[in-house]
Amino acid sequence: MSQKILEKSSSSIAHANLNNVDDMGKHFSYDRYVQELVWFDHGKINAAYNAVTKNAYSARRNKVALYYESDEGLKEKYTFQEVEERSNQIAHYLKKMGVEKGDRVFIFLPRVPELYFSFIAALKLGAVAGTMFSAFGPQALFDRLDQSDAHVLITNKELSQRLDSVRRKLPHLQHVLLTDGNFGAHYQNESKDFTCARTNEDDDAFMLYTSGTTGKPKGVVHGHRAIVHQYLTAKWVLDLKEDDVYWCTADPGWVTGIAYEILGTWANGASTVVTAARFDPADWYRIIQEYKVNVWYSAPTAVRMLAAQSDTLHSKYNLSSLRHLASVGEPLNPEIIHWSKRAYGLPFHDNYFQTETGGIMIANYPSLPIKPGSMGKPFPGIKVHIVDPEGNALPPNSIGRLTFEPNWPSLMKKLWRRPHKYDSYFMKMCPSRKKLYVTGDLAYIDEDGYVWFVGRDDDVIKTAGERVGPFEVESALVAHPDVVEAGVIGKPDELRGQIIKAFVVLQEGVWGNEKKKEEISQFVKKNLAGHAYPREIEFVDKLPKTRSGKIMRRILKAQEMGLPIGDTSTLEEY
Ligand code: PRX
Repeated sequence: MSQKILEKSSSSIAHANLNNVDDMGKHFSYDRYVQELVWFDHGKINAAYNAVTKNAYSARRNKVALYYESDEGLKEKYTFQEVEERSNQIAHYLKKMGVEKGDRVFIFLPRVPELYFSFIAALKLGAVAGTMFSAFGPQALFDRLDQSDAHVLITNKELSQRLDSVRRKLPHLQHVLLTDGNFGAHYQNESKDFTCARTNEDDDAFMLYTSGTTGKPKGVVHGHRAIVHQYLTAKWVLDLKEDDVYWCTADPGWVTGIAYEILGTWANGASTVVTAARFDPADWYRIIQEYKVNVWYSAPTAVRMLAAQSDTLHSKYNLSSLRHLASVGEPLNPEIIHWSKRAYGLPFHDNYFQTETGGIMIANYPSLPIKPGSMGKPFPGIKVHIVDPEGNALPPNSIGRLTFEPNWPSLMKKLWRRPHKYDSYFMKMCPSRKKLYVTGDLAYIDEDGYVWFVGRDDDVIKTAGERVGPFEVESALVAHPDVVEAGVIGKPDELRGQIIKAFVVLQEGVWGNEKKKEEISQFVKKNLAGHAYPREIEFVDKLPKTRSGKIMRRILKAQEMGLPIGDTSTLEEY
């Protein structure tokens, strides 16, 4: 339990947008801050209007909203006015295609400007925008497009090929629009004026599929009101100021990209940098230098990879524009915080949230002293409780379930067509019967109110900051003709936090050698997703199961890590 506090410069504290989180927390109410957003009428707000249109009709009109670099080094920039016009043109085009309020419009693109314009366009129409990470394979695409009954898919020629084998099983998918085909060529003929839908604050705005321990991915749906929390957290946690150039390295296929590369960022008027290229340490430093990035938001795995480079690499670049660094998605090791302070003169600030929470919940703020290893303190207004499985509040420094009182605007509205699963996220506190949202994480709070992450309370895997459900990987594995059954766990890894490890039972007579491991691993990579395949495979004769036949991943994990296997009373003979 490291309690040492990291010193910060007084100027970083003095100029922070939020100068005292404890004081703010005492009398915080969203009511005061909702006025900073544009409401059409009582209870009517559109997130896209607040991210883009509002700026396009203000002094920020000619300010760059999006700096873009393609993977071939092509550079473009778009002002708020231009993002407004492009998204309006796409909104018209989609409307002509028959898209109506509430229809699902999915976007499956690498990080290209059309991804951002299309996302905003869908929201302007009152449609529900869904984004999918460009590493997804046919199975992952099918699961999402099928479960959501998506009407339209915006993609490109290359990625659309992954749809070929499943398209005929998607009867609701009426249009597949290609940015490098007809769609890209024609939408720019549409009118640049469009009247944004006067959506209600709790109308569906966007959805993201995410994984749990069991079953297929769930469609987490957020309302337009989510922008209230995203705007305020971008301001107080990421410390965004309107003149900032800001770089979030996440992909809009995940919640961080939606909340903090598009909505929260633009609502604050900051310029966002988007690069399509893959991670490359020297190139990342070049980007910071070239665009004079002030605020940089990334993931611990990327920072660990940067720290693993030679000590001279970062010193070859002028990184003096940087003012604030933050990271999210997985634990940030204290050594990395100290390293970044030495290397960049600034510490990374860890913060915490989930696809379901729609925005940052716990954070290290520029003005708050950092206890390296802690996720920081709850955002003002957020009420955290650490409880035991019965809902009893636990005292400071006791590990328990991390829960929140469900009182913030970006909490998911629902899971798409899975009401029972949605209900399973909530429990009652004891004895007050207060409703709690249960994160699925284990944590404790110290006597100063700092929250410390301990681990997941379920089998969900976090690899390089990306969330993967073991069931999906197991299903993809057993689709291979040589695999009888499979159990998948997250194995601790110094660089990636966890890697996916699969225990595989092969068909009788199949030889389990290295070549077979590679073949199976590539099979999952191709069919499921480029980031969600097992980097390690172990062939076994049998898997530990309960008497009812459920694979006990807990035992696989304990065995892998050489830990006691715990209660085995429900284990079938193994
Ligand atoms: O286990 C927690 C971990 O990431 C999960 C949420 O993943 P996802 O829905 O993909 O959202 C990512 C958006 C940030 C959490 O339940 N997690 C998130 N932030 C942290 C973290 N684990 C440790 N430290 C964090 N700062």
